[in-house]
Amino acid sequence: MKLPQPDSIARQHSQKVAAYIADKIHHSGGVIAFSKYMEHVLYAPGLGYYSAGCIKFGEQGDFITAPEISPLFSRCIARAITPILNNLVSSSILEVGAGSGKMAADIIMELHNTGQHFEYYYILERSAELRERQQQTLNALPVELADKVTWLDSLPISFIGVVLANELLDAMPITRFHKKNQTVVEMGVAYQNGQFVWQDNVASNVRLNSRIEKIENNLGQVFHDGYTSEINFAAEDWLSSINDMLETGYILLIDYGYPENEYYHEQRDNGTMSCFYQHGRHDDPFLYPGLQDITAHIDFSNLTQAVLTADNSSATTAASLQLNAYTTQSNFLMASGLTELLQENTDDVKQQLVLSQQVKKLTMPYEMGEVVKVIGFDKGLVDVRADNSVLELPCFSMRDLRYQL
Ligand SMILES: C[S@@+](CC[C@H](N)C(=O)[O-])C[C@H]1O[C@@H](n2cnc3c(N)ncnc32)[C@H](O)[C@@H]1O
Repeated sequence: MKLPQPDSIARQHSQKVAAYIADKIHHSGGVIAFSKYMEHVLYAPGLGYYSAGCIKFGEQGDFITAPEISPLFSRCIARAITPILNNLVSSSILEVGAGSGKMAADIIMELHNTGQHFEYYYILERSAELRERQQQTLNALPVELADKVTWLDSLPISFIGVVLANELLDAMPITRFHKKNQTVVEMGVAYQNGQFVWQDNVASNVRLNSRIEKIENNLGQVFHDGYTSEINFAAEDWLSSINDMLETGYILLIDYGYPENEYYHEQRDNGTMSCFYQHGRHDDPFLYPGLQDITAHIDFSNLTQAVLTADNSSATTAASLQLNAYTTQSNFLMASGLTELLQENTDDVKQQLVLSQQVKKLTMPYEMGEVVKVIGFDKGLVDVRADNSVLELPCFSMRDLRYQL
């Protein structure tokens, strides 16, 4: 695919990013793990794709996320989490990786318009530049609502409420591997003749080796030589840290991904990593360093097993983490009232047409409807209005796909 050329200012910025990473590689003996490359190229302070001033989201950026496609998406999330907020004595929301702040603003407005109380809307955002953008977006809310929004610099020690993240995990650095001579090799990055190139990272990676062994056992077959894919250990570690902090509440994550057997299907032999530059999708992570997004889908089976296996919460708190739900974005939005929201204000034909197009993008199988999944974990949540039984959320009433994980 022919991608647009960056202008001279963007090219200069990209050269600075490349020089920064080349220096890191030089000081690491000539090669760094791909996860380190991805970390620098996306998040190096003031330089990385998410940390510097690129537009990123929306028509003028490089890719579009669901909250930017339609406010109906965030309104559905607000409705989905309402029963949880109602079941907690004092509850707040914590959104991690809030992008432009659009989802936060639309959720807060919907909760307000439906009379739903919440204490605070916390945001934890890694990029200083995006945090500023979020502040601009959320300062436009009525002052009594804007006052409920608080930015955190790190995770709190303890939290009661709902943790939300949309397309956060797919932006975390991945460990890329391939099979060579029937051995698992971690892929690294070197810098040669002014270019980044793939180079095997020969140091043994015990965590990677034992994970591949486990996946191959589960699949009942070994990966063939040349098979290339990735593992997102950063997402697993992040989810464990969220679990450690959560006293009582719910974790709702929305992201592109599959269960293990689909993720590591033998025909998906180049993994799921994709790069986006001005809506052009390709698979070269070394192109335009700092100007393009790099992302990989989530393996929801291993994410779930990792957090449930590492769960120590019953030792420290009354409850342990449970996998509450897993379904597609389409099922989740439909069960959260998307159709009813679409049918509001049917008098405005033009507006209806715009919203219908947005709904198609969010729900059609060939768009985001099937490949984006919604997963929910609960801790210590019971239905206070129904004999303290397990809280069943209407947003997950349409198709329970937990058996796939
Ligand atoms: C692909 S964007 C999604 C933004 C937004 N949620 C949306 O749907 O439009 C990923 C976001 O996660 C942030 N991010 C990535 N890793 C993070 C981390 N470990 N903690 C907090 N924010 C993070 C990025 O800076 C960015 O805001």
